[in-house]
Amino acid sequence: MKNDLKDKILKLKKDKGAIILAHYYQRPEIQDIADAVGDSYYLSKIAKDCSENIIVFCGVKFMAESAKILSPEKTVLLPAFDAGCPMADMANPNDILTLKDKHPNAKVVCYINSSAEVKAVSDVCCTSSNAVNIINNLQEDEIIFLPDKNLGEYVQQQVRNKKIILWNGFCITHKKVSAEEILKAKKLHPGIKVLVHPECEKSVRELADFLGSTGQIINFVNNSTDKKFLICTEEGVLHKIKLKNKDKEFYIPNGGMTCINMKKTYLNNVYESLLNMEYAIEIDENIRKKAYKALINMHELGGK
Ligand code: 13P
Ligand code: SF4
Repeated sequence: MKNDLKDKILKLKKDKGAIILAHYYQRPEIQDIADAVGDSYYLSKIAKDCSENIIVFCGVKFMAESAKILSPEKTVLLPAFDAGCPMADMANPNDILTLKDKHPNAKVVCYINSSAEVKAVSDVCCTSSNAVNIINNLQEDEIIFLPDKNLGEYVQQQVRNKKIILWNGFCITHKKVSAEEILKAKKLHPGIKVLVHPECEKSVRELADFLGSTGQIINFVNNSTDKKFLICTEEGVLHKIKLKNKDKEFYIPNGGMTCINMKKTYLNNVYESLLNMEYAIEIDENIRKKAYKALINMHELGGK
């Protein structure tokens, strides 16, 4: 049944000339049918540069929106219409404009986990894999960073010569892991390597052996000679990690770290999405043009 559906998706995809992109947090069966699986930055690059005119974005809304902002001529489909990101909802343009008035010399850097409207009032976007680079590459010494307080704090620790004004947003998924759990795991498995996404809280980040984006965490495991790892990010990353690292052991925090929004996409949604061309992302052109600048600035500043 599952294979039938997979075949039908792949046929429809070919007939329509579409590309399927999936974030590492997606269900294994979604990652398996995707043409590209990656972290937010990598997927945004593919969405910008791919030649296909239809992008099926298996992720959450801000990811599909970013693809549409970068390539307005393409049809961008979000298979699960209600796959949002609670962190992205924690920032709004009006409050940002008020904060900008208070800090007229600051540049606004917004995490890609934000709405098109928030991007439109920001100077540059970033992801967890390039935030430090981007802020280092900006000339300004004062930065308003939003919406993720944890990623902002992490960047501040890496970039000491700039003042970072933080926002009070956070990721509910990465909040699920506690320092106590990590200490327990370290006691139970001496030598275990603790890999942490910077969206986690400070007390957790402080216990990490490695901090990085989802893609960077996966690369760390692939290149490591260590054998035991505690993975402190959404557990979807384990799918790719396990495929390449059969000789290693992986642990996740006790309560699990599942992003319910990332798990809203099933094979059936992808099939319906391609069949009915739903749910197409539409963005007001005025907002899109402004948000485009922030995203393009990320691509220009992020790689350096
Ligand atoms: P990255 O893929 O950039 O690591 O982001 C994680 C995330 O929370 C996406 O929603
Ligand atoms: Fe948003 Fe966190 Fe889910 Fe990423 S993992 S989509 S930041 S809620």
